[in-house]
Amino acid sequence: MLRQYLCELDAIPDGGSRGAILLAEGVERDIFLVRRGESVFAYVNSCPHTGATLNFQPGQFMSFDNYYIQCSIHAAQFRIHDGYCIYGPCLGFSLQRVVIEVSGRSVYGLGITPR
Ligand code: FES
Repeated sequence: MLRQYLCELDAIPDGGSRGAILLAEGVERDIFLVRRGESVFAYVNSCPHTGATLNFQPGQFMSFDNYYIQCSIHAAQFRIHDGYCIYGPCLGFSLQRVVIEVSGRSVYGLGITPR
C-alpha cells in the first residue's frame, strides 16, 4: 500500500475540512480531509448521488454547524466518522473512504477502500 504525504495536521482547520490529491494506482484522485481534534477522516470527493464533487468552494465540505459533511449540490449530509448518508437523495449510501495515517503532526494517505 502506498504511503503518501498529504499535509500537516494543522493545515486542516479543527472542526473543518480541506481538499487534497491522492495518487492511487497511478491516478490522481480528488479527496478531502475532515479534522476532529487529533483525528482525521478522509473520503473521495465524489457524491454517491451523481458522482459530482461535493464542494463548490475550495475546502468547504461541511454543513453550517460543522456536524456533517454536506454536498453543495443537493444538500445530502454524511456522518463524519464513516461517510454514511443520513439525509438527502443518496440516503443510505456512503462516501468512499480513504485510509489515513497521522504520524506526529503529518497526515498520510494509504489508499482508497474498495466500494
Ligand atoms: S450530487 Fe450530491 S446530493 Fe446530489
